[in-house]
Amino acid sequence: MKVGIPKEITPGESRVGATPKTVKRLLKQGFEVFIEKGAGENANITNAAYEAAGAKLLENSQAVYSTGDIILKVQAVTEGEIDQMHADQVVLSYLQPAQNPDLLQKLADKKINAVAMDAIPRISRAQKMDVLSSMANIAGYRAVIEGANHFGRFLNGQITAAGKVDPAKVLVIGAGVAGLAAIGTAKSLGAIVRAFDTRMEVAEQIESMGASFLTVDIEEDGSTASGYSKVMSKEFIEAEMALFKEQAKEVDIIISTAQIPGRAAPKLILDYHVEAMKPGSVIVDLAASSGGNCVFTKNGEVFTTNNGVTIVGKLDQLPAQASQLYGNNLCHLLDDMGKAENFKIDMEDAVVSRAMVTYNGEVNWPPEPLPVSPQKPKTEVAEVAPPEPIDEAALSRKRTVRQFVTLGIIGVILYLLGMVAPGDFMQHFTVFVLSVFIGWQVIWNVSHSLHTPLMAVTNAISGIIIIGGLLQTTDDFSNPMTILAFIAILVASINIVGGFLVTHRMLKMFRK
Ligand code: NAI
Repeated sequence: MKVGIPKEITPGESRVGATPKTVKRLLKQGFEVFIEKGAGENANITNAAYEAAGAKLLENSQAVYSTGDIILKVQAVTEGEIDQMHADQVVLSYLQPAQNPDLLQKLADKKINAVAMDAIPRISRAQKMDVLSSMANIAGYRAVIEGANHFGRFLNGQITAAGKVDPAKVLVIGAGVAGLAAIGTAKSLGAIVRAFDTRMEVAEQIESMGASFLTVDIEEDGSTASGYSKVMSKEFIEAEMALFKEQAKEVDIIISTAQIPGRAAPKLILDYHVEAMKPGSVIVDLAASSGGNCVFTKNGEVFTTNNGVTIVGKLDQLPAQASQLYGNNLCHLLDDMGKAENFKIDMEDAVVSRAMVTYNGEVNWPPEPLPVSPQKPKTEVAEVAPPEPIDEAALSRKRTVRQFVTLGIIGVILYLLGMVAPGDFMQHFTVFVLSVFIGWQVIWNVSHSLHTPLMAVTNAISGIIIIGGLLQTTDDFSNPMTILAFIAILVASINIVGGFLVTHRMLKMFRK
C-alpha cells in the first residue's frame, strides 16, 4: 500500500503529515511512502532527510494525490485538493466535522473515506492517537514560553548581590491538557502558579503539579460524563469574575485555555480585569481561535493595551515538534487499522467508526457519544465516627511482650531439641535460628522508602552466600551438599543480578 504526504497549502500552517522518523515507522509498517518535494520546509525538514529515511519524493501534489492509497495531511483538504483525489482513497487529517458539513458531503460524494483526527474519541485506548492532546500539550508549553518572552522579568525568584527578585505569579484558567502543560512549564521555570477550573476533579491534578487550586464559594461542579466542562450557571460565572478581579491585581501572567466543545470560548477576562492588571503583565489566550477567553483578544495577533498589558492571540506551532507528535498519532492509528498488510476500515471499532466521518459514500457524522473519562458513581457516604486516638505506649508494650514470647518459645524448642540432637548440630542450628530472627526484625522494620538501600545489603548477604556455596562445592555432583550449594549459588546470583537490573530501571526513570 502507498502512503502519500502532500505539502500543506493552508496559510500559516507550518506542520507536515510525516517526519523522517515517522517515515521510517511507516516503512516498517509495510507502506511505501511518497512525499511532495518541499513538504517539510516550514518545519525545517529537508527533502534529503526524507529521502535518507526511505521516502520517495514527488514533484507536486497532483502526483501525491494520484499515487497514495492513504493520504496523510494536517489541515483538511480543500476543494481543489479533493478534485485531485479519487474514489476509495483514505485521507487522515484535521476536519472539524461539526463546522464543515459541506466539506464532508463533498468527500462522501467522491467516495473518499475521511478520518477526522480531531474526532478521535478521548478514551484511554485512543490516547496515543489523540491529536487534540498532543497539540494541546505543545500549546500549553509554548504559552508559558511566549508569556515569559513578553514579560519583562524573570519567572523564578532570585537573591543576587544586586538585590532580591520576587517570583512571577502565573494564573492558569482551565486545567485541561493545555492548562496542565502550562502549569508544569511555569512551575519548572520557578513561577508561583495558581489555577482555576470548573471541573472539581482536576483539583488533585493541579495540586500534584505544585500549583494552588482556586475555588469560588458556590457549590457547582462543571464535570460531565463526556469529560468536558458544562456551561456554568450565571451565579457561578459571576463568582468566577469576582475571583479573577482579585487575581488580576496580583498576577503577572494569565494563561487562559477555557473551552466548551462545540461552542465559542467563554468570555472570562473582561475589560475591568485587564484594567486591573499591572503594566507589563501578559495574557496568553489559547482560546483565541474559538473567539478568545479575553474580550480584547485578536486571533493571530499580539498587541499591547493602553494600560500596558500585552495580549497574545497567536502562538508559534513548534512545527518540527508538532509534526513529530502528529505523525506519531497517525502511525498509531494506522497500526490499529492493521498496517499495510491487513489494512482495514473496521466500522465495528469504537475509535475508527467515530473518527471515520465519511465512509463508502455516506457522511458518518455526528457519531454515537462515548464518555471520555467514566465518572465514578457518587455514592452516599455514611457518617463515620472519628477513629480512637492510637495509644503508642500500649502498642509498643504489646510489641515487646510479643517479642519476648517468641524468643521464649524459640528457647523452649531449642532446649527440647538439645536433649536429643548431637552438640555439633545444636551449635549450627542455634546460630541459624538467631540469624533468621534478627534478620527478620531488621528487615521488617525498614521503611518502604529505604528498600533500595536495603537491596544493596541483601546483595552483600547474597555475596556471602555465594562464597559459602563455593566453599561447599565438590566435584561429586551426587553429593547432596554440592546440590544444595549449587542451588544456593544460583538463587543468590539471581538475587544480585535482579537487584542490579531493578535498580538500573529505577534510576533510568529519573534520568533526563
Ligand atoms: P478543553 O480544551 O475543552 O477545555 C479546557 C479546560 O477549560 C477544561 O478543563 C474545562 O473544564 C475548562 N473550562 C471550561 N469552562 C471554564 C470556565 N468557565 N472557567 C474555567 N475553566 C473552564 O479540554 P481538554 O484539555 O481538551 O480536555 C478536557 C478533558 O478531557 C481532560 O481533562 C480529560 O478529562 C479528558 N481527556 C481525555 C483524554 C483521553 O482519555 N484520551 C485525552 C485528553 C483529555
